[in-house]
Amino acid sequence: MKISILGAGYVGLVSGACFADLGWDVTCVDIDSEKIALLNSGGLPIFEPGLEEIVSRNVQCGRLRFEDTLDEAVPASDIVFIAVGTPPLEDGRADTTSVAAAARDLALLLAGHTVVVIKSTVPVGTGAYISRVMSDANPKADFAIASNPEFLREGNAIRDFLEPDRIVVGTDDAAARDILHSLYAPFEQRDIPVVMTDQATAELIKYAANSFLATKVAFINEMADLCDQIGANVDDLARAVGLDARIGPSFLKPGPGYGGSCFPKDTLALAAQAQEADTPVRIVEAVVASNAHHIRRLVKKIAENCTDAWERLGVEDTSLWGKSVAVLGLAFKSNTDDIRYAASVVILPELMKHGARIRAYDPAAMENARAAMPGIECCASAAEALAGADVALILTEWPEFRGMDWSLLGPRMATPVLVDLRNLYEPADVAGDGVMYYSLGRPDALDIEREDGEQIVQMSDHRGGGSKAG
Ligand SMILES: NC(=O)c1ccc[n+]([C@@H]2O[C@H](COP(=O)([O-])OP(=O)(O)OC[C@H]3O[C@@H](n4cnc5c(N)ncnc54)[C@H](O)[C@@H]3O)[C@@H](O)[C@H]2O)c1
Repeated sequence: MKISILGAGYVGLVSGACFADLGWDVTCVDIDSEKIALLNSGGLPIFEPGLEEIVSRNVQCGRLRFEDTLDEAVPASDIVFIAVGTPPLEDGRADTTSVAAAARDLALLLAGHTVVVIKSTVPVGTGAYISRVMSDANPKADFAIASNPEFLREGNAIRDFLEPDRIVVGTDDAAARDILHSLYAPFEQRDIPVVMTDQATAELIKYAANSFLATKVAFINEMADLCDQIGANVDDLARAVGLDARIGPSFLKPGPGYGGSCFPKDTLALAAQAQEADTPVRIVEAVVASNAHHIRRLVKKIAENCTDAWERLGVEDTSLWGKSVAVLGLAFKSNTDDIRYAASVVILPELMKHGARIRAYDPAAMENARAAMPGIECCASAAEALAGADVALILTEWPEFRGMDWSLLGPRMATPVLVDLRNLYEPADVAGDGVMYYSLGRPDALDIEREDGEQIVQMSDHRGGGSKAG
């Protein structure tokens, strides 16, 4: 079976490489000729663990190639996937312009019956619309449309693609259903469920799944805020709630709000489409508002935590003005270089508006961050960012930020203050290392040196300024 994939981004490239690894003949096509030149020279346009190996293995054995035009690949294909971007429009609806453009171009090149599969995340009705676009462009085009939404997560994309929880295929065409059944037969043989449904339902499933996950994230972040206010511990809460099999533990980790290229735009798109259908999805609308509020609130929290710490440490000016903030992590999550809709992109410009100097380090996203936030200073390592800093701010849960020795790093900072928006450390543990530690929905741990030189750790729950020695 010959496959073309239009769009060699996070989804198209991973899908192409994995289909090739399963034995299919794959051509990835992208209109970005620089991206294709980079791929053809052995480079990768994105950071994704394990991708380099799988791409080079399949290029070498001739099952995977990259082209910047559709001309050769499309006429030779049995299946053409469309995996181009669908960013949000100003009113929240998904912009399907690139999907339509790709469909128009490919319609002119079809030779023989071809299944055209929309892998991009698109609103319900897009399949029918794309079918009209293609027939208008080429009335003789012989094709069937299908939807096959992708559920991979950046950072874990290869595994998610090859070992998914389920595969969703939606089409109203019986022959297309059979062809896609054959494509995914190797998965079914491994007992991976393939949910076959109609076009519209498949399109909606992707939005419903992402909106549900976003709801869990927003919910636990609200619980973390509440824990902060009333002195409860969100980690214990999340563990106990998640142990209920009906709820499950995943996506119950407080953080700086959901971000990335999917949840923000997919929740907005579902809410917009539901409004259009005169059936508002009020829970999803509330989730969107809650997430935006949470990220804004964190800017205030960072400033308050810093003021609290600097007051305790006897710093004269406790405002952020002129202070050096060492930011650890810029990507929207670990193991990716993607900063689209990342918390960093919202929080850091706000801190800069308050006069803070940002010195940032991310293991993979420095290049993207440099382009998106020219005002930040880029550092080559966490240690470099932390040297002389007034506060350290953890924004991404990269594994290398988990095991840092703050007893060594704290003394290299101007003031040893750590604001952890990923709850990577146990408060008591890290406070024992000599830093003043603030996180989400848990007691602050403030390491204080007494006049007699003895070190004591204070656990403060911020309720009316009360604190207890630990
Ligand atoms: N990134 C994810 O984690 C993820 C996960 C699941 C689903 N999705 C969905 O998959 C789709 C693609 O997302 P992405 O993150 O891979 O996007 P991306 O921006 O990384 O890649 C899109 C690529 O399409 C190319 N392109 C645009 N128009 C084209 C055309 N006419 N022909 C050929 N190539 C064209 C662009 O140059 C770009 O390289 C989106 O709808 C997204 O919502 C993304």
